[in-house]
Amino acid sequence: MRVLIAGCGYVGSELARRLVTADHDVWGLRRTASGMPEGVRALAGDVTDPATLDLPGGMDTLVYAVSPGRRDETAYRAAYVDGLDHVLGALPTPPARVLFVSSTAVYGQEDGSVVDEDSATEPSSFSGRVLLEAEARTHAAGGTVLRLAGIYGPDRTRLIDEVRAGEATYPPGDVHTNRIHRDDCAGVLEHLLTLDAPAPTYVGVDDEPAPRREVLTWLAERLDAPPPRESPEPRSRGGDKRCSNARLRASGYELRFPTYREGYAAMLA
Ligand SMILES: NC(=O)c1ccc[n+]([C@@H]2O[C@H](COP(=O)([O-])OP(=O)(O)OC[C@H]3O[C@@H](n4cnc5c(N)ncnc54)[C@H](OP(=O)(O)O)[C@@H]3O)[C@@H](O)[C@H]2O)c1
Repeated sequence: MRVLIAGCGYVGSELARRLVTADHDVWGLRRTASGMPEGVRALAGDVTDPATLDLPGGMDTLVYAVSPGRRDETAYRAAYVDGLDHVLGALPTPPARVLFVSSTAVYGQEDGSVVDEDSATEPSSFSGRVLLEAEARTHAAGGTVLRLAGIYGPDRTRLIDEVRAGEATYPPGDVHTNRIHRDDCAGVLEHLLTLDAPAPTYVGVDDEPAPRREVLTWLAERLDAPPPRESPEPRSRGGDKRCSNARLRASGYELRFPTYREGYAAMLA
């Protein structure tokens, strides 16, 4: 299989390593092409500027995992919506398969309810609204959307660092957070590439949405650090929802890190 990974960063590089190991031909696109994983053909280009995109033909698959450098609507639209259009337009031949990495930010639920692929998507944030536009573009191209929750894993140790420093806080009430380990992000993408008839959309989270308080307390106990404190901030940016991975599991994917406990334990080991 010939695969182009646009946005060959934290998740994209892990996927690239796996696909190279499985003997696929992999191209990685990003603005800084140096330092790509071994075996990946590096392409330097900026998805926001079509003049910089000189892409090879004959791709079977496009995985789009670009993230915006800034948190504002202009940057989000450029990276997700225009960028996807530019990459699809720059490919000399249309790929048979398109996989777009989206986010659970498309959900606006704030009542702790369970959400899945059929749930309402009424985000209060611009990020969710822009992602929904990019998802619609993906579906129009016959592609598949993967909505990832908060990604953690090797080198993404912010939560651990905050707990260790005694600076971790949680909002009042049991506000749920959802997450997925980097290796499962890449594992799920690789799995979706093997499905003959993937659904249009999958939610990519682990098995256990958990209150932030619970995750921080567990980490503090493991690290022998001070217990986390409740903060006056009323809400976290991610709303309050419990994302379900039932469709992903039913498609045959087995999580390597089913909950934050296995995932963080591996990082702390
Ligand atoms: N982080 C999370 O918790 C989270 C949660 C849900 C969903 N997601 C989504 O998951 C996906 C992967 O996340 P990640 O953590 O792997 O992101 P990442 O490490 O920031 O990687 C993004 C990649 O995109 C490249 N990139 C950024 N702007 C570009 C541009 N204009 N042109 C070409 N390449 C560009 C970056 O490289 P250069 O800077 O060298 O160009 C980088 O390699 C993203 O779509 C993200 O929005 C993330």
